[in-house]
Amino acid sequence: MGERRLLVLFGSQTGTAQDTAERIGREAKRRHLRCWVEALDSCDLANLIHEPLVVFVCATTGQGDPPDNMKMFWRFLFRKNLPAGSLCQLDYAVLGLGDSSYPKFNFVAKKLHKRLLQLGGNPLLPVALGDDQHDLGPDAVVDPWLVALWDKILALYPLPPGLEIISPNVCLPPKYTLHYLPEDSPHPESDLLQPPAPQAAPCELHPFSAPVVSNQRVTAQSHFQDVRLIEFDIAGSGITFSAGDVVMIQPQNCPEDVQQFCQLLCLEPHRRFVLEPTEPGTSLPPLLPQPCTIQYLVTHYLDISCVPRRSFFELLSYFSTNELEREKLQEFSSAQGQEELYSYCNRPRRTTLEALWDFPHTTSAIPADYLLELIPRIRPRAFSIASSMLALPERLQILVAVVRYKTRLSKPRRGLCSTWLASLNPEQGDVRVPLWVKKGGMKFPADPATPVIMIGPGTGVAPFRAAIQERVALGHGGNCLFFGCRYKSKDFYCQTEWEELVKKGLLTLFTAFSRDQEEKVYVQHRIRENRKLVWELLSSGNAHIYLAG
Ligand SMILES: Cc1cc2nc3c(=O)[nH]c(=O)nc-3n(C[C@H](O)[C@H](O)[C@H](O)COP(=O)(O)OP(=O)(O)OC[C@H]3O[C@@H](n4cnc5c(N)ncnc54)[C@H](O)[C@@H]3O)c2cc1C
Ligand SMILES: NC(=O)c1ccc[n+]([C@@H]2O[C@H](COP(=O)([O-])OP(=O)(O)OC[C@H]3O[C@@H](n4cnc5c(N)ncnc54)[C@H](OP(=O)(O)O)[C@@H]3O)[C@@H](O)[C@H]2O)c1
Ligand SMILES: Cc1cc2nc3c(=O)[nH]c(=O)nc-3n(C[C@H](O)[C@H](O)[C@H](O)COP(=O)(O)O)c2cc1C
Repeated sequence: MGERRLLVLFGSQTGTAQDTAERIGREAKRRHLRCWVEALDSCDLANLIHEPLVVFVCATTGQGDPPDNMKMFWRFLFRKNLPAGSLCQLDYAVLGLGDSSYPKFNFVAKKLHKRLLQLGGNPLLPVALGDDQHDLGPDAVVDPWLVALWDKILALYPLPPGLEIISPNVCLPPKYTLHYLPEDSPHPESDLLQPPAPQAAPCELHPFSAPVVSNQRVTAQSHFQDVRLIEFDIAGSGITFSAGDVVMIQPQNCPEDVQQFCQLLCLEPHRRFVLEPTEPGTSLPPLLPQPCTIQYLVTHYLDISCVPRRSFFELLSYFSTNELEREKLQEFSSAQGQEELYSYCNRPRRTTLEALWDFPHTTSAIPADYLLELIPRIRPRAFSIASSMLALPERLQILVAVVRYKTRLSKPRRGLCSTWLASLNPEQGDVRVPLWVKKGGMKFPADPATPVIMIGPGTGVAPFRAAIQERVALGHGGNCLFFGCRYKSKDFYCQTEWEELVKKGLLTLFTAFSRDQEEKVYVQHRIRENRKLVWELLSSGNAHIYLAG
């Protein structure tokens, strides 16, 4: 029998695959396996040919695309020159996370499984296809698949004599220990919060701290939906982009939530700490400065506004000194308690902070060492770039719909990033936002003779504003836009811009104001009415057609 070691590699865009990978890591430790859990792009791929046992946990994003943190791995794995038997030493299993309402359901997991097989890998189990559409979410597939996985793994690597599986009642040691520095340690706050200077083009690890130039509401004050056109100054950042690209924005928690969280957990915001991995080989969280303050950790890193997952309640239950709270937490972390958890958390979109309020005894007993395992990090949000560098050099604009809605909870739900962005007022000083740009899925034709038909209801028009600005600057005609909103007088974004371009003959515009009359009128109705023109553009002009929203 070889060394009892397991590598769990994940590709995750919004955290579900990472959470599942970490669950597998904890279950492996209970079985006394040496185990590492890493994002696919953080692991040294050359070493894969020496790994005996790997579990891959991969989500599918976009339209059948791999998540950002496995893109390098994806390119590497599909290199044509990889020899057919290069992974013949590898026992592997693939767990996919997807949503069957998408046409390319779990495309990444399926393709990965096939490719590993082609490279000589030995699958321990058929690929598992977790599905958001299932009543119980992906766990409906994940739970039984994991039971089968551990049977297979323990058959290959039995428990060493004298050892037993560590009971789920025992709390495993934390991944990191948090050491407070003496209060008078010499690290000025300004040093700590200064992001490192970007080396090349800004990226997730080195975002550009972009000054906000303007933040303008583009819907009427009387309209229920707040939509903002926000402009950033990107001079000197090294950022370049073209129409169809996307800007990633790293949001932060609001000061009131940060203060409440610190109070609930009895944390002192200004205390500094350093983190130390408990096991050698565990890397430190890349986006946290060392040393760091509690204030920074809670403001910029811990996602206290996300809806907590099952693993949150599982870990929380270990710290409970109150019997009633512990029973409830254990129920939420069990397979049978998932429907109850769904109605407590997911349906009303309860936040992590609110859940902590509901378990006050447990919350005040959370050891700071476990904070990074208990609460995931704040994820960046994507926004279609709504301006062109050719029209507005050194500037980048986005069109943001501020997320606010009601559930059965009395307090309205607010989107973290859009609410934070809307709150920024450049007139109050130097206001900055950490951002970077990534290539988008939309490519506009280089040939000036190729017309484009763009269909963008609501903020879906954002990438088309960039495309129209770019194409007009390049002298490309043939721009046809179908735009839909609710009322001509309330949410007709960029109305004057479009009207000027129409006047100059640079844009053909069709509008659908859905609520300005009794009957709903949508963009699809306008397309139908103008089918002759659309067909002409497609058939004789070879037009490209785009849809966002
Ligand atoms: C490629 C791409 C481009 C995008 N471009 C833009 C853009 O140009 N402009 C733009 O405004 N957004 C855009 N988005 C969406 C954007 O990334 C964010 O998801 C959005 O701003 C909300 O983020 P938030 O942090 O404010 O909300 P979060 O805190 O992330 O909350 C949003 C979540 O709340 C829930 N939710 C929202 N509304 C409701 C409701 N009515 N009922 C129940 N649950 C609800 C949903 O689960 C949703 O995922 C884009 C997304 C992608 C992937
Ligand atoms: N991929 C991208 O680049 C990108 C960029 C920005 C936004 N988006 C997405 O675009 C969508 C637009 O959001 P929004 O809040 O800005 O839009 P919105 O204001 O809610 O809606 C815009 C218009 O679309 C209408 N509409 C509703 N259902 C429709 C349907 N089935 N078919 C056609 N039109 C319909 C609405 O009419 P009624 O309300 O009157 O029914 C309204 O007139 C969101 O899903 C957002 O995530 C995508
Ligand atoms: C923008 C977006 C695109 C998605 N595209 C797909 C897809 O093409 N195929 C699929 O099976 N699931 C798709 N999904 C569903 C995700 O794969 C699923 O929610 C998964 O649990 C997310 O895992 P993650 O949180 O680790 O990224 C998509 C989800 C989002 C938000």
